[in-house]
Amino acid sequence: MAKNYRIAVIPGDGTGPEVVREAIKALDAASKKSGFTTEKVHFDLGGERYLKTGEILPEGTLEELQKFDAILLGAIGHPDVKPGILEKGLLLELRFKLDQYVNLRPVILYQGVETPLKDKGPEDVNFVVVRENTEGLYSGAGGFLKKGTPQEVAVQESINTRLGAERCIRFAFEYCRKRNYRKKLTLCGKTNVLTYAFDLWQRAFNDVAKEYPDIQTDYAHVDAICMWMIKNPEWFDVIVTDNMFGDIITDLGAMIQGGMGIAAGGNINPAGVSMFEPIGGSAPKYTGQNIINPIAAIAAAQMMLEHLGEASAAGLIENAIKKVVARDLKSMSAGHMGYSTTEVGDLVVKHIAE
Ligand code: IPM
Ligand code: MN
Repeated sequence: MAKNYRIAVIPGDGTGPEVVREAIKALDAASKKSGFTTEKVHFDLGGERYLKTGEILPEGTLEELQKFDAILLGAIGHPDVKPGILEKGLLLELRFKLDQYVNLRPVILYQGVETPLKDKGPEDVNFVVVRENTEGLYSGAGGFLKKGTPQEVAVQESINTRLGAERCIRFAFEYCRKRNYRKKLTLCGKTNVLTYAFDLWQRAFNDVAKEYPDIQTDYAHVDAICMWMIKNPEWFDVIVTDNMFGDIITDLGAMIQGGMGIAAGGNINPAGVSMFEPIGGSAPKYTGQNIINPIAAIAAAQMMLEHLGEASAAGLIENAIKKVVARDLKSMSAGHMGYSTTEVGDLVVKHIAE
């Protein structure tokens, strides 16, 4: 009997539903050709539901999601909802409660995609960021004192546990070994200022490194990483870092790989359910126009298949993406692709079927 995977689909806000639709087209084309099936169950979560009913993550949803093989997410964030409500209540809540402790974000420049980096090409921009995804400044620890008064105090603490740092670092070493590319893992931190948090990270990194003598290790401060990512991106293979720095450097990474329209990521719990998403957000100004680039969401579906162990189906999508960006698309930006969102999805499907 053909294998079947149960996929929870959260189209979410803004352009999320438009790009997820194309990702599912690619997923179906690749699974059909590879001889397995997927059963998709849609979850109505996000800003619209919150505005209508006040519900963010209704009771029982987490338990429900845990029963799936993977989650495909569009985007979370609504212009009419105060910043933080949906992000914390939904996106971060899913990452935390499902213990998706790694946010895996490849930064790969494909042939034919324009990068703002002068004199750099696909051979130079090919690395993966392993971002810790459940701790650090994202933990929500802190609070106000005397809020709204001139003496107001706001504290936002970075929580770093040995267990949290170590499991993320170990994942990064394993990933670097499997990737088998430059076999180099760079720790990105700020040991010269954040002398507690990154002291813990550095010690965990050094300890775990002993188990991976085949992997070359390196360290760079986050500000320097921002510089090297522009100047010498070819130095990087895998970068491991905390939640906040990982958030920041992967937006920079998205830009050097061609833009938000092409950047995808996976929220990974190696022992539970993982969630895959385009990292660009809900892009409200493009909603409903059929002009957003769906490649990032399609690449998220590719990452999901890799994670599920369907490497050849994932490869079909990857090759189709490579062809579409090299041959078909005029630009990666919304409205300038030369095709509509649905047409780009159709092109990917056509290349998968070839
Ligand atoms: C991301 C996003 C989220 C984050 C926001 C929407 C909470 O920027 O996935 O990178 O900061 O992690
Ligand atoms: Mn971000």
